[in-house]
Amino acid sequence: MQAHNEGPPRAHRSWEPFRAAAVAGEGHAIPMRDAVLPDRQQKWCDRDVVGDRGPVTNDIAAGSPASDTPSPIGAYIGDPALRAEWDRRYADRTQLWSGRPNGALVAEATGLTPGRVLDVGCGEGADAVWLARAGWDVTALEVSGVALARAAGHAHDAGLTVHWVHAALTEAALPPASFDLVSAQYPALLRTPDAAAERVLLAAVAPGGVLLFVHHAGVDAKQAQENGFDPADYVWPSTVTELLDGDWEVEVDEQRPRVAPDGGAGAHHADDLVLRVRRLR
Ligand SMILES: C[S@@+](CC[C@H](N)C(=O)[O-])C[C@H]1O[C@@H](n2cnc3c(N)ncnc32)[C@H](O)[C@@H]1O
Repeated sequence: MQAHNEGPPRAHRSWEPFRAAAVAGEGHAIPMRDAVLPDRQQKWCDRDVVGDRGPVTNDIAAGSPASDTPSPIGAYIGDPALRAEWDRRYADRTQLWSGRPNGALVAEATGLTPGRVLDVGCGEGADAVWLARAGWDVTALEVSGVALARAAGHAHDAGLTVHWVHAALTEAALPPASFDLVSAQYPALLRTPDAAAERVLLAAVAPGGVLLFVHHAGVDAKQAQENGFDPADYVWPSTVTELLDGDWEVEVDEQRPRVAPDGGAGAHHADDLVLRVRRLR
């Protein structure tokens, strides 16, 4: 990925410096900050054709209940600048990620009984395909139409059904308490003072269900900031756990060696922060 001259918002500009900033070592103490994008605290809705490689449905992003009836392909709900920035990153390469499911997801989900799963920031769909193949009823949400088109193509090629949602997490109007598993693997979710993204992640989990939130460990904040990227602008496991109350049980909250798929951007990251919390009621 590379910097773009079009002037994307500061907080979106430099997710890539994670590559340079990663160091093995301690976890994160992420201070709360002011609004990352105060000019973006509003609803956006526009449309975008995301490609023709497969059936990209958008059956819950518009606030309607999930159904088997596809909404118009490419209906997008979210910040157009966010979508455009990630579209540019994906369009830079024919394939950005490894094409294989994330190791932490495989490790944590293998023991779970398949039910409804939400894959947040599904990227090119390797996790969604793996989950669907394992018997999960998969809803996969993503801001990039370029990535979604690739993901839908992979699912189509595998003969698998996935409900695709072209939306930003906090604007997607997800049905509350509806997913047995909410999986967020290295999500690039911007923080806001009201912790909107964290609250949406937690609210989507059904009673008895699990939120699995995985991120890179050992990001050196100072080095990242020197590269124009501030980790404090993003949601981390620690910012999720801050919101947990007695309705939640922490099953896993640890740093551990990453079981990384070979190849793809980000393959150099050596350790994961893994948060797995269960909603009791
Ligand atoms: C680091 S990538 C990880 C992709 C995938 N989960 C994986 O592990 O390969 C982060 C993804 O989150 C998506 N994303 C960023 N902000 C988002 C938002 N607010 N809502 C939904 N997806 C978002 C990006 O487009 C990108 O595909």
